[in-house]
Amino acid sequence: MKIGLFGFGTVGKGVFDILEERPGMDVKYVLDLRPLPEVTTAIVTKDLNQILSDPEVDTVVELIGGMHPAYEFVTASLKAGKNVVTANKLMVSMHYAELISLAKEMGVSLRFSAAAGGGIPWLVNLQRAHRASRLESVFGIMNGTTNYILDSMDTLDKDFDEALAEAQRLGFAEADPSSDIDGLDTRHKTTLSANIAFGVALEDDKVDAFGIRTVKKADLDCAKEKGYMLKLIGKACRVGAAGDKVAAWVEPTLVPLDTPQGNIHGCDNIIAFEGSHIGKTHFIGAGAGRYPTGYAVVQDVVDIFCGNAGLYNEEMALMPVANEMECHKYYLRTDFTEDPFFAALEKTPWGNGFEVTSSVRDMHDFAARAKVAGKEIFFAGHLAF
Ligand code: HSE
Repeated sequence: MKIGLFGFGTVGKGVFDILEERPGMDVKYVLDLRPLPEVTTAIVTKDLNQILSDPEVDTVVELIGGMHPAYEFVTASLKAGKNVVTANKLMVSMHYAELISLAKEMGVSLRFSAAAGGGIPWLVNLQRAHRASRLESVFGIMNGTTNYILDSMDTLDKDFDEALAEAQRLGFAEADPSSDIDGLDTRHKTTLSANIAFGVALEDDKVDAFGIRTVKKADLDCAKEKGYMLKLIGKACRVGAAGDKVAAWVEPTLVPLDTPQGNIHGCDNIIAFEGSHIGKTHFIGAGAGRYPTGYAVVQDVVDIFCGNAGLYNEEMALMPVANEMECHKYYLRTDFTEDPFFAALEKTPWGNGFEVTSSVRDMHDFAARAKVAGKEIFFAGHLAF
């Protein structure tokens, strides 16, 4: 097997190192704009066509990240008849149906195990669960950066800005942390999980996401007093009388202290599915990092080497996100009291705000209006665990 590796950053280097230990799986090319003198066993090139026109290369591994040029390189690779492995959650979640249709049309594999859960064997087991069981929900802590921040706010008594700065200093958070702290990274992982769990293709940007940017230490303290931790949770579940619709969202969530989710520390992730026959099954481990993520990428390469098909279901219903059909309790702290939605809520005092009940769609729309109006808002879902 001859491989073209696109990108030699943190995960690209990890994949290269792991593959060097594997006989029969040779990285023939590394595509990178830099010269990379440390790469002595592969051809370093800036020319995508050099790789795509080489008939010896059957598989490419895309680890450039971001949308462009990763999307163009991946579609060109599929069209050239190459199998594709990628860890790119943004690209796959935003172009899910299109990329899968293209891979099927070309008769090649498309695998993206590392795009959700990092080193945790999550999507691959979710796909296996789906084929033998009706799945009802997927949910979990899918972002290490926000878990690190919330955990250090709790255990080291820091406020949000202080915890974020510390996470950036230690290299756990990026210089621009928006995708993590605004819940977008978790949104892409939730979309991919929902797609595989339910055999659908959700529109990623219709999955409501509210992050932890406005959380205060006082919110964690009042949650703790009542027996909860605050965690950023992505969840997707069947809704409607027949369970034939899907709701999917990302929001800070009150997690009971005596649950597995309430006891995940540092950068670790925990993700679970619940289904008929199997009940709840939890997966815990490293959701990011050079070698954990590199390991998951290599697992996909080995799967292709062994002749396994793509990481997706044959059925793929294009379906709107039905967040208006999912209602639950919320802890809500806001000064956007003039909005008619707030006025109409039945409110019970809770911590520094209120406990209210709302649909996911209405609560997230309210938060979006509060943000535009420059008002303060923090909310946390209060779900059964
Ligand atoms: N920024 C992500 C996280 C990296 O913190 O989990 C892995 O997707």
